[in-house]
Amino acid sequence: MTSKLHEIELSVNGKSVRRNVPSRMLLSDFLREDLNLRGTHVGCEHGVCGACTVSVDGKSTRSCLTFAVQTHSCSVRTVEGLGNIQNLHPLQQAFWEKHGLQCGFCTPGMLITAEELLTNNPTPTREQVAEAISGNLCRCTGYETIIDAIMAASEAMQKKEVNA
Ligand code: FES
Ligand code: FES
Repeated sequence: MTSKLHEIELSVNGKSVRRNVPSRMLLSDFLREDLNLRGTHVGCEHGVCGACTVSVDGKSTRSCLTFAVQTHSCSVRTVEGLGNIQNLHPLQQAFWEKHGLQCGFCTPGMLITAEELLTNNPTPTREQVAEAISGNLCRCTGYETIIDAIMAASEAMQKKEVNA
């Protein structure tokens, strides 16, 4: 049986994208395979690890539990949309400076989750940061340096705002 294709149109990292996708294509596969955005990692593939987290209309979303067709008309942001090597996002800069990663497998999901937190709560406490990233598993860091990094990014973003 051939799978029905659906035309979807959405914004991915600020660019308009139109594609035909099968009904059951996962957002994670769509991003990685169709759009070649391999910064979104796939770990458990059943909603537990958080490695596949992307932002859909500003909300951290498991892309392994979301069908691509569900994002029709949505605005999706992946780690590639945060910053680049010449112009790191304050969160990326802070993860680098505070050793917020080791193997880096969890990092794209952590960054997207942290970005949502700092958008909604620019000056979180350590406890609020820990709570926010509690759905993102990290096998390497013990989480403390990730929390340090998010706190440092929050501070840097506040300073930037004051000086803007
Ligand atoms: S790969 Fe999606 S939550 Fe683990
Ligand atoms: S840095 Fe390796 S899983 Fe988090």
